[in-house]
Amino acid sequence: MVATWNGATNELHLHNGRISYVIRALEDGSLAQVYFGPALAPGRSYVHLGPAHFEAFSDRQTEFVALEYPTGGAGDFRVPALAVEHADGSSVLHLAYAGHRISTGKPAIPGLPSTYVERLDEAESAEILLVDAEGGLEVRLLYTIFADQPVVARSVRIRNAGTARVTLRSAMSASLDLPDSRWDLLQLAGTWARERHVVRRALAPGRVAVTSGRGASSHEANPFVALLRPTTTEDHGTALGFSLVYSGNFRAEAEVDPFGTTRLRLGIEPEGFAWTLEPGDELATPEAILAWSETGLGGLSDAYHRLYRERLARGAWRDRPRPVLLNSWEGAYFDVRASRMLEMATAARDMGIELFVLDDGWFGERDADTSSLGDWVVDRRKLPDGLDGLARQVEALGMRFGLWIEPEMVSPRSRLFTAHPDWAIGVPGRPRTESRSQLVLDMSRPEIVDHLFGAIRDVLRSAPISYVKWDYNRNITEPFSLGLPAERQGEFFHRYVLGVYDLYDRLTREFPEILFESCAGGGGRFDPGMLAFAPQAWTSDDTDAVERLRIQWGTSIVYPLSSMGAHVAAVPNHQVGRVTPLATRAAVAFFGVFGYELDPAALSPDERREIAGQVAFYKTHRELFQRGRFLRLRSPFEGDGNDVAWMTVAEDARHAVVGWYRILNRPQPGSDRIPLRGLDPAARYRVTAWPPGDDSMAARNAVERGGDDLMSAGILVVATRPETAARGDFQARLFVLDAVEQPATD
Ligand code: DGJ
Repeated sequence: MVATWNGATNELHLHNGRISYVIRALEDGSLAQVYFGPALAPGRSYVHLGPAHFEAFSDRQTEFVALEYPTGGAGDFRVPALAVEHADGSSVLHLAYAGHRISTGKPAIPGLPSTYVERLDEAESAEILLVDAEGGLEVRLLYTIFADQPVVARSVRIRNAGTARVTLRSAMSASLDLPDSRWDLLQLAGTWARERHVVRRALAPGRVAVTSGRGASSHEANPFVALLRPTTTEDHGTALGFSLVYSGNFRAEAEVDPFGTTRLRLGIEPEGFAWTLEPGDELATPEAILAWSETGLGGLSDAYHRLYRERLARGAWRDRPRPVLLNSWEGAYFDVRASRMLEMATAARDMGIELFVLDDGWFGERDADTSSLGDWVVDRRKLPDGLDGLARQVEALGMRFGLWIEPEMVSPRSRLFTAHPDWAIGVPGRPRTESRSQLVLDMSRPEIVDHLFGAIRDVLRSAPISYVKWDYNRNITEPFSLGLPAERQGEFFHRYVLGVYDLYDRLTREFPEILFESCAGGGGRFDPGMLAFAPQAWTSDDTDAVERLRIQWGTSIVYPLSSMGAHVAAVPNHQVGRVTPLATRAAVAFFGVFGYELDPAALSPDERREIAGQVAFYKTHRELFQRGRFLRLRSPFEGDGNDVAWMTVAEDARHAVVGWYRILNRPQPGSDRIPLRGLDPAARYRVTAWPPGDDSMAARNAVERGGDDLMSAGILVVATRPETAARGDFQARLFVLDAVEQPATD
């Protein structure tokens, strides 16, 4: 892996044997994009691939020149990466190359989460300095190429080295100009309870944007888009990923210009953004992770999963097996009396569950969602022996104890709000919009972050707490901070996110042994920024197995199994009222960080036995379910979406688990085989079906089969047998594959 600068041609080539990224300083000083794609031989010049020069306002068609960090107002009419307002009100910039630096390793980004290295030889980084001579703005473009990863990390530092104030109106993290527009744009769209559904459409002239302006990355959008060739599938073809390590307002936007080139920009949402740089001030943008795959969308996912699991997530829990948990929410809601909690925990322990999580309702006087957020003091009416008493009793059962918090919020009915009404976000003299009867604390103000750090630290010190679920249940309205002067209100949203990161950073450093799970009314902030602090996230408030197929499929496009909280809940399901078999609910939730979210007292003895079996099964295959290579086989977003299949494979391909799901049963099903992927073609695998007691499918697949056979002919999931037809809706079956040492005789 190398980052090399060719002084003769002023060319930077980032290269690691898998991909190349080439840029070049042109004669007029502008920085041009030359190439991003499969690896090109190092040591050569690729000047012929890029533009010779960028001539502003020449009579030639120069506006389709590929630029690395474009600005507006000087001949490029496409959407800019950087837009400013100078002190005189003008907005023109002439950024010109002024130097570069190459180093081993990877620098951190001040105040923002980012990918990292553990050893210097894992990556090389380059920094290119661009200067606007007239205004004095300095722009440093930062690049990192990782050994053996098809990704480039990009971020930008913008410094006012002039003598007058400059206001940034748009400061994107990355911009990429591609030479054609034969791309589909893939995004992860949704809303509460149906997050990250896959949407794919062809690019056309004009702009298409995926954005959030809600203060969080949001349920509705995810800070990720991919460009795919129209023929690209899960395992074939070119795919390009753009992922932003950020949890606030963002924009991913593709523009196809009249000449059929494509510009993709990614960064903080410019709408409503204005950041003032006084002389000497600097702004660091969030990190964008660009990935390139020649092996389809699956290749992109492989790259993001590995990078985000191993070099974005951090802390003691990054590599540890995550515990199977029982969360109190759907089983008890606000009725969190100690006796009831202990009963739930005891039953959970008897079924093999390892962690009991006390969700919302334990503090203040919170009997409903109408009060007490901000009052992080235990409610002794419900927990007479305090958190400590309950946590110790849970630990005495041989389990760990976890706790729910929602630090960024305040209820108007709370002691905190009575004492500090001005801490809630809002515009003085105007009504504040309440959502779930709560307001949002102004995390852009350091004194509020300090208060929260103290309050939450005291709670976490008060009892043996091993796990924290950090929730965030509404978006931001009436954006305004009393901590900012009028001319700096455009900084509010980004400063809010910086405050959240600061609090996360301080708490995770103070409590390095606590496992943090992020949450935002389910998956409303499921993004790489959160993942840097909390290695797992509550994927969605929707616990229905059928809905979860789509949600977990879409989430897996970017995020690894180790990040996806997935629970089995009671039926009829609380979000959609659907009744699915217990085995199906588990067969979906297994693929992630597994748990339960129900009242064990409502279970029959048979169901308890079944759950104990599920927990034991998950523990046996935990490494695969949490850290295996996840491969998507049959999409719920294609065709009628009625059949879904995916699998997880061990790194050495010796073990795998395949999940197959049929939503509605059909009469007279034809037989169906699903070709598997990622196995060792030369190995032989023993095939076992789950749930146990139903091994007709395993028998039909033969007890042992070759990896070649399983990947080419496929695994039989539906056979035209009477019992298959009689199974009813919402079927699921898992196939466990274990490589056998000795080839068996056929
Ligand atoms: C929303 C979360 O997603 C749920 O799991 C639960 O913690 C509730 N909030 C509690 O208010």
